[in-house]
Amino acid sequence: MRAHYNHLAPFLSADDANTMLRLAEHFGSFGPYANEAENDGIGEELPQRFDAAFNYIAHGMDGSENQDDMHTAAARTNYFRETYAYGEEVRAPGVEPFMNHPALAETARKISGVERIVPAIIFANILIPGQELAVHTDVPEFRGANRKVTPQWLLVTMLHSGLFDEWRIPITTCVSWFGKSKGGAFAFYPEGTDGPREAIQSDHNSAIVIDTDRVFHGVDRVAETKPKLPPINNKTARLHFMGDDKWQLRNGDEVLGDYDWSELRYSISWKGYCFKDETEENLWRSGSDDLSIEFILNRIEDDLRAQGVLTGARPDPTAFATMMVNHYIRFPKLQAAAE
Ligand SMILES: [Fe+2]
Repeated sequence: MRAHYNHLAPFLSADDANTMLRLAEHFGSFGPYANEAENDGIGEELPQRFDAAFNYIAHGMDGSENQDDMHTAAARTNYFRETYAYGEEVRAPGVEPFMNHPALAETARKISGVERIVPAIIFANILIPGQELAVHTDVPEFRGANRKVTPQWLLVTMLHSGLFDEWRIPITTCVSWFGKSKGGAFAFYPEGTDGPREAIQSDHNSAIVIDTDRVFHGVDRVAETKPKLPPINNKTARLHFMGDDKWQLRNGDEVLGDYDWSELRYSISWKGYCFKDETEENLWRSGSDDLSIEFILNRIEDDLRAQGVLTGARPDPTAFATMMVNHYIRFPKLQAAAE
């Protein structure tokens, strides 16, 4: 079934679009997404988004055989991410009018088909030249299970399993683009995993509003303006704003690269919870129907056993995590782009 989406171009007023660039500058510096959160207790040896990473390593962005070595693959996909707002917590002062933009809530109503839209999260992403974003679906939320307390790959697996739909908080996402970088189109599969790949150019002050928790999507390679990608250490690399449209990538004190704003792909993701009615919103707020990690893992284990995927004892956390992701997440069949 074709997913509904809206392509907004232009998106904001010219002044408001420039404000989004200034927010990144005032934020000051961006860290690697891979450093965003730690796993605890289950699959802690695995990267937060190993679901998407393993598929990317096997098939790349387009299914071509010609893959980078692991080192380059890691640098290509280890982009930069900061959280501007998460619920009541505002980390980028000045983002509030955007968070509560009436047009965003209105478009989310259209896409989700429900009335009660509660702005939830704003992320800012920066990709440097040569980076791309592996095909994935976004991290969903369920009552009692969100990225603050649950591994991201597990939340994604929960959605694709369909076993937790009654606890799910549907989210509509607006991905918007600001700046002058080349390449870096938003690639997506609006007709589902068996449908064709489509792409939208990430032009300045344009946006797409879509259910990114269900629709697979990724980012094509940002135009390469340097001979090679620098190594990006998860823990110590940061991209710093230097003033005067300049950014600098540093690993501690070591300078890895200098970039002009016009070389960087900058996107903002706005996410809104989509509640059917007040009762559903209150159920989420009260925390009275929250999932626990034990319940989640037991339900998945029962389902894997019922399907004959798992027999014998539950495997160790890493093997169990890998089994879940492999069984429930079906990626689009990537086809090598025609020459
Ligand atoms: Fe995404």
